[in-house]
Amino acid sequence: MRVKNNKLYFSGIKAEELAKRYKTPLYVYEERVLEEKSKELLENIPYDKLKIFYACKANTNLEILKFFRRQGLGLETVSQGEVLAGFKAGFKAEDIIYTCDNILEDELKFLIRNKIRINIDSLSQLEEYGKINYGGEVGLRINQGIGAGHHSHCITGGPDSKFGIYFSQLKSAKRLAKKYNLKIVGVHQHIGSGILDESIFLKAMKALLKTAKEFKDLEYIDFGGGFGVPYSPKEKPLNLKTLGKKISSVFEDFCQDYGKRLWMCFEPGRFLVAQAGTLLVQVVEIKKTPFKTFVGVNSGFNHLVRPVMYGAYHCILNASCIKGPKQVVSVAGNICESGDLFAKDRKIVKAKKGDILAILDAGAYGFVQSSNFNSRPKPAEIMVKKNGKVRIIRKRQTWEQSLA
Ligand SMILES: Cc1ncc(COP(=O)(O)O)c(C=O)c1O
Repeated sequence: MRVKNNKLYFSGIKAEELAKRYKTPLYVYEERVLEEKSKELLENIPYDKLKIFYACKANTNLEILKFFRRQGLGLETVSQGEVLAGFKAGFKAEDIIYTCDNILEDELKFLIRNKIRINIDSLSQLEEYGKINYGGEVGLRINQGIGAGHHSHCITGGPDSKFGIYFSQLKSAKRLAKKYNLKIVGVHQHIGSGILDESIFLKAMKALLKTAKEFKDLEYIDFGGGFGVPYSPKEKPLNLKTLGKKISSVFEDFCQDYGKRLWMCFEPGRFLVAQAGTLLVQVVEIKKTPFKTFVGVNSGFNHLVRPVMYGAYHCILNASCIKGPKQVVSVAGNICESGDLFAKDRKIVKAKKGDILAILDAGAYGFVQSSNFNSRPKPAEIMVKKNGKVRIIRKRQTWEQSLA
């Protein structure tokens, strides 16, 4: 994104021009940013047997999946649908890892049949896996009692979390593995999403490594995702340079002790795609009440639910007039709920009807969490390539399709 003549541009194309050509609401992704983010991760973690699996729950658009495949990343999946999307995007089974949640036997069989690497979530699931695939190779998702995240809904470790085999249940896990002759080839954890505190990564990592020592046949250790990005001006980005070095050195030391160089895996989602995506919306109404000014737009939490679901902050720019007099307003969506606000009492550049607003950092957990609430179709998605060429990577849903 760049500003020229007081207007917002994506790789040389004016946001207003994109809005005119492809209509709004519109998700715009910048290939340049996707590339920068994947390079940032790969280049700042020096350990050589490193495997990054893109957690595609953050954004399952096939073009984005294909892009990360070309960058050499693997794919982290949590449903049969995500695995199928991975295949469609050209990923091979060996490049896909699956993190179990509450899944049906049929889905487990599908994964085994397709030779997808699985991280098992519970003792009963391990038993079920053993019955289906006696003598198989599998990973275990461990809850080390440590969780973190930008919102309580996104904390996936610790005593309140539904995820993983609690570290105090390891004896039972080993017993089951023995009963079904299973080879535990990996341990996994994912403590939460949207983490900007570097120390918690290292703490959780060390805790998992302690557990890892108890398994003698490991080939990989997967530390999950969770790398945060700053959404509000108050937040500071992670220093991946220092974090990457520390992570690598802790892992090197572990491997020396363990007697084997294992694969060190991560499953970032948000970090790779959040900042590459912007939701463009159009101002359709300026409503002044005796108390407030509402800037009404043609989208809502049916298209980007993060502000409503997590109280998340998304920076909003007036793409039609980047610098100008400011005004405190609430940016309201077109969904019939009072909570449908993209920003509440926020000072932004004064907007008028017809202006295009850019809701930034919407690339992760944006479109994927969209819905047809209020019978409004889902928006289109476009990719702006580094050379300025634009591709529609998902057509705008028609009203008929939303009812199909
Ligand atoms: C198992 C697992 N791995 C990876 C991720 C990706 O997390 P993030 O987008 O914060 O990197 C998630 C997100 O919920 C997850 O549940």
